Amino acid sequence: MLGEIERLKGDLSTELDAVGDEKTLEAFRVKYLGKKGLLAGLFGRLGQAAPEERPELGKAIHAFKTLVEESFGAKRDGLSATADAARAEGLDPSLPGRVPWRGRRHILASVLQEIVEIFYGMGFSVADGPEVETDYFNFQALNFPEDHPSRDLQDTFYVDDDVLLRTHTSPVQIRYMQNNPPPVRIVVPGRVYRNEAVDASHAAEFHQLEGLYVDNNVTLGDLTTTLRQFAHEFFGPDAELRFRPHFFPFTEPSAEADMSCFGCKGSGCRICGNTGWIEILGAGMVHPNVFKHAGYDPDQVTGFAFGFGIERIAMLRHGISDLRLFLENDVRFLSQF
Ligand code: PHE
Repeated sequence: MLGEIERLKGDLSTELDAVGDEKTLEAFRVKYLGKKGLLAGLFGRLGQAAPEERPELGKAIHAFKTLVEESFGAKRDGLSATADAARAEGLDPSLPGRVPWRGRRHILASVLQEIVEIFYGMGFSVADGPEVETDYFNFQALNFPEDHPSRDLQDTFYVDDDVLLRTHTSPVQIRYMQNNPPPVRIVVPGRVYRNEAVDASHAAEFHQLEGLYVDNNVTLGDLTTTLRQFAHEFFGPDAELRFRPHFFPFTEPSAEADMSCFGCKGSGCRICGNTGWIEILGAGMVHPNVFKHAGYDPDQVTGFAFGFGIERIAMLRHGISDLRLFLENDVRFLSQF
């Protein structure tokens, strides 16, 4: 037993070195000085030793106990002095640590991802095109005559007379069809630009998702069914769509679609201006002149196209009232989604 005590003494300093805070200090105390600790064990076994050995053994155990108690006390004082010094400098080592910042997807990216997945499910694939476009792809090939007033609705930023920042994702319709034979089933997400005075509902830079479906015998019924299916999957089974006649140069007939207001379910409220409906997209059957510019034979194919604003869809889904929030990079806003 004397040998065992010597060994324990030897281990003591290594064990003390490992003590760095209150938790490990307490574990040390329990291990050595606790009710079922090492010292209690040694004292317990003293009774079983031969009577002539007991005095010497008892002395050794007591000496070891004193050593442990002194070491423990010194370590405890040392730790609290370190803590006091830290507090004096304005540090409180008992405070929980800082949780590292974790990034996440931007809300527009995650809404876009969800939208694209719904269209994947219906057999569409993703295509893209340049944000800096020519007048030809952005307007002429989409059947906007030069000087036509509908160009005014899409005023933009010009690099020169011929090169501009695209006002919509529709030019990708032409680019894609020029390079791929029918059938076509694509969605085109991307950034677009307009020369707008910025306010809660207007931005000079925003995102759209274009859809294009071209094949033999594509009908207006295919268009409305596809968009209704999208609305149900994205907004829920109660979401209703209604189609109103509209004008776009590149589709004929053309329509705008409204969705039943999420705020009042159609009865009329402030969000929908008491109409029960909120405009969400433009759509129509691809105009024969667009097929001609794309190199398709308008007698052979028909198709539908649609386009909507991704910010708009995200605002409706999450009840966001100001378009500017998407681009301000304020983490108090972004971390909510
Ligand atoms: N490009 C149109 C816009 O930005 C939307 C649209 C796309 C309309 C496709 C019809 C067909 O307003």
